[in-house]
Amino acid sequence: MKCVLLAGGSGTRLAPLTDGFSKHLVRVGQRTLLEHALSDLEAGGVDEVCVVLGETGATAIRDHLRESDQFDLEVRYAVQGAARGVADAISHAEPFVGDEPFLVYLGDNLFGPSLEPFVRGFAATEDGVGLCLRRVDDPTRFGVPVFESGSLQDIVEKPADPPSEYAVTGLYGFPPAVFDHIERLEPSDRGELEVTDAIRSLLDAGRSAHVHRFDGWWVDAGTPDGLLTANRRVLAGSGGSGPAAATDAVGADADSGLGEGVRVRAPVSVGAGVEVGNGTELGPNVTLDADVVVGSEARISDSIVLSGATVADGTSVTESIVAPGARVTSPLRGEVYR
Ligand code: G1P
Repeated sequence: MKCVLLAGGSGTRLAPLTDGFSKHLVRVGQRTLLEHALSDLEAGGVDEVCVVLGETGATAIRDHLRESDQFDLEVRYAVQGAARGVADAISHAEPFVGDEPFLVYLGDNLFGPSLEPFVRGFAATEDGVGLCLRRVDDPTRFGVPVFESGSLQDIVEKPADPPSEYAVTGLYGFPPAVFDHIERLEPSDRGELEVTDAIRSLLDAGRSAHVHRFDGWWVDAGTPDGLLTANRRVLAGSGGSGPAAATDAVGADADSGLGEGVRVRAPVSVGAGVEVGNGTELGPNVTLDADVVVGSEARISDSIVLSGATVADGTSVTESIVAPGARVTSPLRGEVYR
């Protein structure tokens, strides 16, 4: 099965982290969001992926996946450029798709433990639309399915008054005919070609829907809260998303330079080349990306600190995301710091 993996978008909900940096390269546990997606897709039965790149971080993403080299997947690229919506991004993958049904995966989504039941169910449908639904507390932030007598009638995008308690997650199945439908779409009020409108157009044309109610965990990691939730999920090991993700930091990586008296409250993930000063406390739920430097007597919990960032002596960082190369010298709580 082929999959179109969307890795563009401007990442405004994660600003200032995403100024010139792609959210898809945020490391969560031992893997970046992109690597989690590829790993989960491969395990779910996908063998060819087209990564659709946006304006931010396109070169960095190509370099990252070339170096990553841990998947037995054929990876190709398409370039969307400016962010004009999910349906627009999908349209750029038309030459890759050819004439077979295919999957679409929004690269800032994370699922556990397995995508395989959805993929298998969609593969068995004849030219229908595959929707992966997850029950959520607040559907107003998502596409929401409308059911009548138990059957799907419509999807509404970010409704103020949700017609059901389900969100349409960022994993879809489409027949190749979707490209003709996307061509006929008009931009929405937010100026984008919406995937929801493409789905509605297919349903109106009489295509059947394969509706899968996903019973694992699902996170839209495109917001600070979502990213920290993804971090907790992955580190807790409930997602099958990486070998060392759930281990204690000590010894998680041979290169890790942990100083004397460093206290680790698992789960913590420590990347290559990390240095941590004496008496610092790490965890729980901390990802330290490669080459992070943490001073002595510092304290980091519930946070992601990205590559090459520095946390100064005695500084506390909690519920925060620190951008690559940033230097933290005063306490952070609930911040995206650059
Ligand atoms: C997009 C879709 C929405 C879906 C969500 C899942 O929203 O338009 O229907 O529920 O992804 O993450 P966006 O993230 O573009 O606001």
